[in-house]
Formats: sequence, structure tokens, C-alpha cells
Amino acid sequence: MNNFTFYAPTYFAFGAEQENNAGKYVRRFGGSKVLIHYGGGSVVRSGLLGRVKASLEAEGISYIELGGVHPNPLSGLVYEGIELCRKEKIDFVLAVGGGSTIDSSKAIAAGTVYDGDFWDFYQGKPVTKALPIGTVLTIAAAGSEGSPDSVITKEEGMFKRGASGEALRPAFSILNPVLTQTLPAYQTACGISDIMAHLFERYFTNTEDVEVTDRLIEGLLSAMVHEAPKVIANPDDYQARANIMWAGMMAHNNSVGVGRGQDWASHDIEHELSAVYDCAHGAGLAVVFPAWMTYNMEHNVMRFAQVASRVWGCPMDFMHPENTAKAGIAAFKAFLKSIGMPGNFAELGADEKDIEKMAHNACYGDKRAGAVGGFVQLHEDDVKAIYRLMV
Ligand code: NZQ
Ligand code: ZN
Repeated sequence: MNNFTFYAPTYFAFGAEQENNAGKYVRRFGGSKVLIHYGGGSVVRSGLLGRVKASLEAEGISYIELGGVHPNPLSGLVYEGIELCRKEKIDFVLAVGGGSTIDSSKAIAAGTVYDGDFWDFYQGKPVTKALPIGTVLTIAAAGSEGSPDSVITKEEGMFKRGASGEALRPAFSILNPVLTQTLPAYQTACGISDIMAHLFERYFTNTEDVEVTDRLIEGLLSAMVHEAPKVIANPDDYQARANIMWAGMMAHNNSVGVGRGQDWASHDIEHELSAVYDCAHGAGLAVVFPAWMTYNMEHNVMRFAQVASRVWGCPMDFMHPENTAKAGIAAFKAFLKSIGMPGNFAELGADEKDIEKMAHNACYGDKRAGAVGGFVQLHEDDVKAIYRLMV
């Protein structure tokens, strides 16, 4: 195991009706004038926004609102939010929605107190200062409610890039599984695919002797395999929703990723797809990850065979572990199909004519250094080959 530091001070309030305490938590974490940020309207229609506003009013906290965050959030609204926060002297950003809304809120929170273009953070500058952020989560997926990350797309060039920094970890996050019951089955499944991808990105490591984090990741993956069919069959299954919601947080606040190298090429490869085709991130990952696994299996067949055996229950073929590894990838693909995820470019709405451009952008676009991935370093030709496996 490698040396590491880990500081994840987000306060979590989990369970039914917790959103009614949003005002109390804003006060506890120092907010007196709040920007409430939300997406395309699901939180208005569900009545959630009204309940959150009532809880702020009950605490005598003033607020302004900025809606309209697009899934795969765009820089244009971030610039608008930064202007608004400065003009209104906002001291707290409250995200009410999914990963896109939370990421846009994080960008605004960092940009408001930064004397420069917020996009600098999305080109690699660490975020060391931001307004405090709170979240009321409505979809189990991106894990942004506990992560120090934010992903934004810049319209000019359509570069989808991530920023990182401890200042971006939310001060508090409210996780009420009931709020996720209104999700369409497709969005629920996209979330499940993303959560599993966050686990696999950490699982495929070159670091040795990481038994504890290996087992934690395998446990979370197994729980997803167990809970996902329940929630697809019955969207109102509170317990399954609750388990998936906490798994989404655990998968990405890095408690299961400390002390080990990680990969993240699949995310970089997927971000090109969601930037170009505006597909859901989790749907893109469902197409990318099995292809990435197939391409890189040879790098450490035993690691692929291990997860195949421990998570998918494939019998271990000690003479030919590649058979076990392949069976595990096939089981993952079948699982993704069973929850309604796309399995190739056509089902995702992607087109092979864009492969060259996407592979180039993944490796070189917007100041990238020419390679992606920590488990296996992939260059432009590798990325092209992986995209071709998805056609
Ligand atoms: O915009 P509204 O109207 O709210 O509708 C949303 C949106 O259309 C809808 N939705 C959310 N909760 C709902 C609901 N509809 C009905 N009932 C509810 N309870 O679902 C759609 C998707 O929402 P979005 O916020 O885009 O989903 P998600 O949480 O999957 O976020 C995706 C974004 O997060 C980024 C992705 O790249 C993508 O841009 N990621 C962020 C990460 C991070 N910050 O740590 C890590 C991830 O790997 C990921 O890259
Ligand atoms: Zn993701």
C-alpha cells in the first residue's frame, strides 16, 4: 500500500425528509446569503425546491436562485453564476439536484473567490479556495456529493474536463433516497453504471498488497449487482435506493481508493463521448468500460480473473486465468444490458467517423500531455483501438 493523506470532512444527513433541515445545515456551516443552484426543473416539479426554500426561510437565511444546469454542465452558466455571486455577495452555494448541478455549483463556488478565469482549474490548477458548498442530492451516480471533483464542459472546443481540490468537498450533503424514486429507469441505470465505473477505476491498480481496499471495492460492486435489479423492477424500493445511494458516495469519496494507484482512462475516453454526443455519462461508460477491459486484460490477467471470480462468481480457471477474466467481462456486459444500458456506438448514438478526433482530444485536447490512464498508459492509437472495439 502507498502512503496517503485523506481528509473528507463532509457532514452527511441520510434518510427520509432530511431536506427539511437544509436551512439548519447552511446556518451551521456559516451561510447567511445563499445561491440555490438547480437543473432543468425536476426539483421544481417534485416540490423539493419549495421545501428547501421553506427550510432556509425558517432559519431567516436569504437566498437567490439560479436554475437551468444542463446535464453535462456548461461553462456559460458557471460564468453567469460567478457574476451573480459577486454582485449579490453570496457566501454559500447550495446545489439541489444531481452531479451536474453539484459540479456547476462547485465551479461557481471556486470561481467566485478566484481572481482569474475559473477554467484554469479545469486545466490542472488545484482548487485551494472556494465558497462553502452544500448539496441536496437527487440521483445516485456521480458521487460529487462527497468528492473533491467537478466536471464542466467548455463550449468553445467542447472540452469536458475535471477540476479537483479539497476546497471542493461539500461542507454538508443531504441524501434522501426517496428523492431518487422519481428517476426514470434509464437515469437510474446510468447512475448504477457510473458508480460501478468509479469502483473499477480504482480496482485496476498496479499497487500491490491492497487487500483491504480490494475487498471494499469488491463488496460495493457485489452490492450493486444485488441491489440494481430490485430498483429497476421496483423504482419505489426504498431500501434498494438507500443502499445504492450510499454506495454512490462510498464509490467516489476515495475512502476505497486511498493508498493505491488508480486508472481513470475510461472516464477520459467517455468524457469525449458525452462532450460530442451529449449522452448521459453513465451510458457512455457502459459502452467504454467493457472495451477498455478487453483491450487491457493482458496487462494483469490475474486481477481481471480475481474480480470475475469474487464479484461475478465465475469459476477460477487456474490453468487459463484469461478464460475467467473474459467470463467476468462478459458477465459485466450482460449485467449492463439487463439494466437497459447501451452496449455499442450505435445504441449510444455515437458515430465511428468521430473516432480520430475524440482519440486525439482525449490525449492532447486542451493542454493534455499525450496519454491517459494509470494502470496502463494509453496513447492516441490505443484510444482509437478502444473506440473501435465499441463499434
Ligand atoms: O436537470 P434536472 O431537471 O434536475 O434533471 C436531471 C437530468 O436530466 C435528472 N434528474 C436528476 N435527479 C432526478 C432527475 N429526474 C427525476 N427525478 C430525480 N430525482 O437526471 C438527469 C441527469 O442529471 P445529472 O445531474 O446530469 O446526473 P449525474 O448525477 O449522473 O451527473 C452527471 C455529471 O457528473 C459528472 C459527469 O461527467 C456528468 O457531467 N461527473 C462528476 C464527477 C464528480 N464531480 O466527482 C465524477 C463522475 O465521474 C462524473 O464524471
Ligand atoms: Zn463517473
